Amino acid sequence: MQDIKDEIIRLKKERDAVILAHYYVPDEVQDIADYIGDSYYLSTIAAKAQEDIILFCGVYFMGESAKILNPSKKVLMPDLQADCPMAHMATVSGIERVRKEHPEAAVVCYINSTAEIKAHSDVCVTSANAVKVVKALPESVIYFIPDSNLGRYVAGQVPEKRFILNDGYCHVHTCIRREQVIDRKQEHPLAKIAAHPECRAEVLELADYIGSTSGIIDYVDQTDAKDYIICTETGVFHEIRSRARGKNLYSAEKEQVCPDMKKNTLLKVLHALQRLEPEVRVEESILRKARLPLDRMLELTGMKSDE
Ligand code: 13P
Ligand code: SF4
Repeated sequence: MQDIKDEIIRLKKERDAVILAHYYVPDEVQDIADYIGDSYYLSTIAAKAQEDIILFCGVYFMGESAKILNPSKKVLMPDLQADCPMAHMATVSGIERVRKEHPEAAVVCYINSTAEIKAHSDVCVTSANAVKVVKALPESVIYFIPDSNLGRYVAGQVPEKRFILNDGYCHVHTCIRREQVIDRKQEHPLAKIAAHPECRAEVLELADYIGSTSGIIDYVDQTDAKDYIICTETGVFHEIRSRARGKNLYSAEKEQVCPDMKKNTLLKVLHALQRLEPEVRVEESILRKARLPLDRMLELTGMKSDE
């Protein structure tokens, strides 16, 4: 394994590549990344990357967003089959129907969506900035796609606006049920509960903290408690353990694992740098339109990309 890591580091310099990794990819891939983070942070890094190549270890919508935000760069992924099923849970016809029925609504699309869906949306959000972005919009009616759980959570935080929700969901987060969280809490009564807003409302109701993957990591790092029940993909444990040694982390459910994120193996990272493929390609007309809602997100969060 060390040989592979050394070769990745050597090739990365030779190819002028920067490696970005989401907190859900395997630990050893997080370890060789130049930047690890949540989807918002990684999109800001991708937007301003200066290197010739961005190697994105995550799921397809993340690599695609990097390409849209920084189109002159070659964007590689270890495995183009690493795809987020939720990204496909909104449809263009659904957007067109809502636009017809509610012309006053803003179409707010979670970054976990395809480029085509982004191209038909008004603004993108991530779990880290959705409340802030939605509050900043002039529209008071919001069509939120694709995630029903994040949409419901944001609606609760922005009661002054009316929300139309979609029925998408994350299969990893919706596996976590209220009963399991209560069972873990009984086993560890002093534990704090930290949950990602993609969880069901019944889980979020029990949480001491709700936030993005970065938010959850910061919360555990900065909170005095010793025990934590973590309601998100367990890839975040790696960063928490490196920052907050000695804290006890428990998952609510046995299998809080995103199989697509785990397709990003070290060997595939090496192959991508050796072969300069597989490359993320986005059709020009879609890319131009999909850029607008991503740029608007960066503008509304004070991170506008330069190009
Ligand atoms: P974050 O933006 O919080 O990293 O979440 C991405 C994701 O896919 C959660 O399932
Ligand atoms: Fe998609 Fe869920 Fe995996 Fe996140 S954890 S990438 S939302 S399937």
